[in-house]
Amino acid sequence: MGILAVLALPLLLLGISGIIYLYQSVRWLLSKSAVQNKVVVITDAISGLGKECSRVFHTGGARLVLCGRTWEKLEALYDALISVTDPSMTYAPKLILLDISDINCIRDVAKEILNCYGCVDILINNASMKVKGAVQSISLELDKKIMDANYFGPITLTKAILPNMISRRTGQIVLINSIQGKIGIPFRAAYAASKHAAVGFFDCLRAEMEEFDISVSTVNPTFICSYHRQPAPGNWEASIWKFFFRKVAYGVHPVDVAEEVLRTVSRKKREVLMANPIPRAAVYIRTFFPELFFAIVASEYLQRKYLLWRHGTKLLLLLQVPLLM
Ligand SMILES: NC(=O)c1ccc[n+]([C@@H]2O[C@H](COP(=O)([O-])OP(=O)(O)OC[C@H]3O[C@@H](n4cnc5c(N)ncnc54)[C@H](OP(=O)(O)O)[C@@H]3O)[C@@H](O)[C@H]2O)c1
Repeated sequence: MGILAVLALPLLLLGISGIIYLYQSVRWLLSKSAVQNKVVVITDAISGLGKECSRVFHTGGARLVLCGRTWEKLEALYDALISVTDPSMTYAPKLILLDISDINCIRDVAKEILNCYGCVDILINNASMKVKGAVQSISLELDKKIMDANYFGPITLTKAILPNMISRRTGQIVLINSIQGKIGIPFRAAYAASKHAAVGFFDCLRAEMEEFDISVSTVNPTFICSYHRQPAPGNWEASIWKFFFRKVAYGVHPVDVAEEVLRTVSRKKREVLMANPIPRAAVYIRTFFPELFFAIVASEYLQRKYLLWRHGTKLLLLLQVPLLM
């Protein structure tokens, strides 16, 4: 009786963990099967996140159309994908050159995309351009280029693909956005403005597409970490980082974001915010206590300016990471 009582709690915890693990595995398999045979278009498939999305959807059995602006990188991604999967269970991806800021060419590229399989089931608007700098240091030309790449590009492509989805009364459109589409922070004016504009457009589109059974999702990660910033696998630190500090110190891993994109598609989620507690709180503070938010951001800005003046740009960049996470 005594031993049983001592073992009861660990056994109960073990049982619950097992059930949670099984539940998550089944949901993951269901998410994957939801994209099987679907025609999935990913813009900028060669970016950090684009590559992971390509891998996740490819292994899920989707018919991929991978877009990017560098042909050699697209070919390298193609080779990487087909070399690790069973060709009898997956489709060889189609490759299409697309510079998302070249608005005049996007309609023709959309035709090329539609010609691949005759339809598009899922469009993932992932391509985007980033820029950092004080408002006065960014030229108006660059502001416009960012707006083209992050707003006019994705909406032009979406508008060109929409008639096909509407006529079939099915489809899913995903916008990979950013927390900076919800809050503005110093030195990111052009990027934040373009991401705010995009989220406004896709929020309106979501309501309009409801009657055609077309779902519109926005995925808003905070800071997506790069591979090279993580401890090497096998390093004793790795597991500790993975479990406790990885997301706090390095942001979200592209694999985690790609898996979230797959879940978003399979569950038709409307909006996802992938953020740690501080940036998540910032979004709510911006909504309910805007004056407080503006005061915090302004004081952060002054503090950074002072530190920049004393210690140089490296420190400034280091300090920007926690705010973006
Ligand atoms: N990284 C983050 O912390 C973060 C945070 C929140 C949201 N996001 C969003 O996640 C998405 C993917 O970002 P990422 O960080 O994975 O990208 P990334 O790895 O930093 O790569 C940048 C990509 O942008 C591509 N690119 C630049 N200008 C382009 C254009 N005009 N047309 C087509 N492609 C262009 C580059 O292609 P080339 O190599 O051919 O130049 C490169 O693949 C973006 O929508 C981004 O806004 C990223």
